[in-house]
Amino acid sequence: MKMSIGIDAIAFAVPRAYVELTELAAARAVPPSKYTNGLGTHQMAIADADEDPVALATNAARRLFVRSGRRPDEIGLCIAGTETAVDHSKPIAAYLHGLLGLPTACRVFETKHACFGGTAGLMAAMDWIASGSARGRSALVLCTDIARYELGSAGEPTQGAGAVAFIVSENPRLIELELGRSGSYARDVHDFWRPLHRKDALVDGHFSVQCYLDALAGAYAEWNAITREDGGPAEPLVRTCYHVPYGKMARKAHRHRKQIDGLTEAEADATFATEVESSLNFSAQIGNVYTGSLYLALASLLHAEAGQLEGQRIGLFSYGSGCAAEFFAGRVCEGAQDMVDQLDLAGPLAARERLTIERYEELRRADAIADRRPVPTPPPPPSAQSLLHAAAYIGVDAEDRRVYTDQA
Ligand code: COA
Repeated sequence: MKMSIGIDAIAFAVPRAYVELTELAAARAVPPSKYTNGLGTHQMAIADADEDPVALATNAARRLFVRSGRRPDEIGLCIAGTETAVDHSKPIAAYLHGLLGLPTACRVFETKHACFGGTAGLMAAMDWIASGSARGRSALVLCTDIARYELGSAGEPTQGAGAVAFIVSENPRLIELELGRSGSYARDVHDFWRPLHRKDALVDGHFSVQCYLDALAGAYAEWNAITREDGGPAEPLVRTCYHVPYGKMARKAHRHRKQIDGLTEAEADATFATEVESSLNFSAQIGNVYTGSLYLALASLLHAEAGQLEGQRIGLFSYGSGCAAEFFAGRVCEGAQDMVDQLDLAGPLAARERLTIERYEELRRADAIADRRPVPTPPPPPSAQSLLHAAAYIGVDAEDRRVYTDQA
C-alpha cells in the first residue's frame, strides 16, 4: 500500500525586532515604493546577538512541539538546513539535539546548499520514512538563517532572519507530499556566495534572478516529465508556493511558470492574486529567511486559507543559489484547518519591536564580533521570557565553545 508521508505540523520563530522598509528607504535616499512595491517587502526581521540561528531554531521547534502536541521523544531524525551555520564542524542540529532533549537514538546532521538546504532536509526525511528506516518515528526538519548583505548595498532591503520548524511523518495532518515525484535541477553558477571569512553574503543580484528563473524552468520541466511518465495526478495545482527572497521574485517566478504553460503575460499575471498572493503575507513582514523561505510561504498560505484548500493539490518550488532547485507537489489534508487553528501560525508576529535605523545599524556592526563575544561571568540569571524567545546565545567560553541559556 502506498504510504502517506508529508508535513504534519509547522511553526516559525522570528527575532524580537524588525526594521520598517519605508524608514530604511528614507535613510538610503531611495523612493519607499521601490522597496514596498518594487521588491514587495514591508518589514525585515533583524536578529540581535543572542538570536543566532541555533536560538531561533530552538524557539521555532519548541513552539512546534507545544502547539502540535508532538513530543521530542517521537523524533528519530533531526536535520537543520542552514547557510549561516555557527561552526565549520559542529552542526546546528547537534546543539538542537541538546537544547530540545531529543533521544540519543537519533540521526542528527546539518544540510547546506544556500536556500535549498531545508528542502534537502525535507527530501532526506521523506526518503528516511519511505525506506522503512524511521520505524514509526518522525523527523524534525529545521530551516534557520540570518540573511545579511552589506549596509547600503542593493541586497540590504532583502535581508531578514528567522527559523521554520516542521515535522515530517506518516499520515500527516497538514500536507501529504507526492513521494518520488520531484523535479530537480542543478548548475554550477556564481550568483550568490559567502566566503568563509565573511558574515555578509556577496551576490550578483540580477544574475541570481535569472538563475532562479532558469532553475524553475528546468525543475518544472523535469517534474512535468516525471508526473506524465508515472501517471501522476492530472488535477491542476490550485496554489503554488515559491522560494521568496522578496515578494516580487515569487511574482516573477509565477509569471514565468505560467508562460511556460502557454499563458500570455497578462493571463499569467491574472492568476497571481488567487494562486500565490496569500503565501507572501508572512515574508512581507519578515523578509528573506533563506532556507525557511519556501516553508514560511507554505505557513502563510495555510494560515490564510487551509480550510478552502483541503483535499486540493498545491505546488512547491525551492531554489538555492549556486545552484540547486526542486519542484514538487502535495495535497492539503482533510482537517488541515483544525490543525492550523491549533498551531496559531501568526503568533510570533504579534508583539515585535520596531527598530530605529540607527539601532539597526548598531546591531549590524555588533555582528562582526558576536561569534567571539565572551560569556559574561557569571552567566546572567534566567529572566522571565516568553516561550517565543526562551533560548538565547550568550557567547563563547575560553575554549570557543558556544553557550546558550534556555528558560523553557
Ligand atoms: N517604485 C516602484 N518600483 C520600483 C521603483 C519605484 N520607485 N524603483 C525601482 N522599482 C522596481 C524595479 O522596476 C524593479 O522591478 P522589476 O524587477 O519588476 O523590474 C524592482 O523595483 C527592483 O529594482 P532594481 O533596480 O532591479 O533593484 P536593485 O538593482 O537595487 O536590486 C535585487 C534588486 C533583487 C537584485 C537586489 O535587492 C539583490 O541583489 N538582492 C539579493 C539577491 C536576491 O534576493 N536574489 C534573488 C534570487 S535568489
